Amino acid sequence: MKAGSRKPEFEIEPLILSRWSSRCLSGEAMTRDELAPLFEAARWAPSSGNLQPWRFVYVVPGSARWAELVDILAEGNRWWASKAGALLLLVSRRLLPNRHTGEMQLQVSHSFDAGAAWVCLAQQASASGLVAHAMGGFDRARATAFLGLDERYQVEVVIAVGKPGDPANLTDEQRERDVPNGRRPQAEWVFKDSFVPDAG
Ligand SMILES: Cc1cc2nc3c(=O)[nH]c(=O)nc-3n(C[C@H](O)[C@H](O)[C@H](O)COP(=O)(O)O)c2cc1C
Repeated sequence: MKAGSRKPEFEIEPLILSRWSSRCLSGEAMTRDELAPLFEAARWAPSSGNLQPWRFVYVVPGSARWAELVDILAEGNRWWASKAGALLLLVSRRLLPNRHTGEMQLQVSHSFDAGAAWVCLAQQASASGLVAHAMGGFDRARATAFLGLDERYQVEVVIAVGKPGDPANLTDEQRERDVPNGRRPQAEWVFKDSFVPDAG
């Protein structure tokens, strides 16, 4: 990322500002060793009761399941995410047995905790010079079937991870769009004492 192209309102850790979701990937398959530090970062995410409800399944290009997984992605994601070095399915455990009755019950923070793991992974990827780009645009029913998940689990996102590609391989339009975006100012969503709902 071009240094300084994101302007914070207040000084923060450069690591936070420099992470962004590029769509320019090299297509080179990643190894388990290269992925391990990313999973390790996710491992240290905070979670409710330290339950660590996240699960990751990774598929790399060249694997028998690669084409099937790419096909599950929304069309708008396929063109760039098919150049990932790995696609990660982030799954969370949503139902847990009640400690006393053994009955399955909803663990309310399962998605929130999985989101924390995603951010840790993304920050580590960024620090390691890798792209990590989350996608909600995929067929959830097909992803659930792809993994053979039962009702205890939920697919949260698919994450494209990989080495940065050469921007010269993008079209002009794709290259123009492949830049870090901005954020709403704090004044729009930080409130003192009382909540202020959106106008619309
Ligand atoms: C849950 C989630 C779903 C997303 N889905 C998609 C997606 O389907 N396709 C895509 O290109 N980007 C997707 N993104 C990336 C967001 O558009 C991106 O994070 C946001 O614009 C902020 O940009 P940044 O990550 O570069 O800071 C998703 C991000 C999240 C967290």
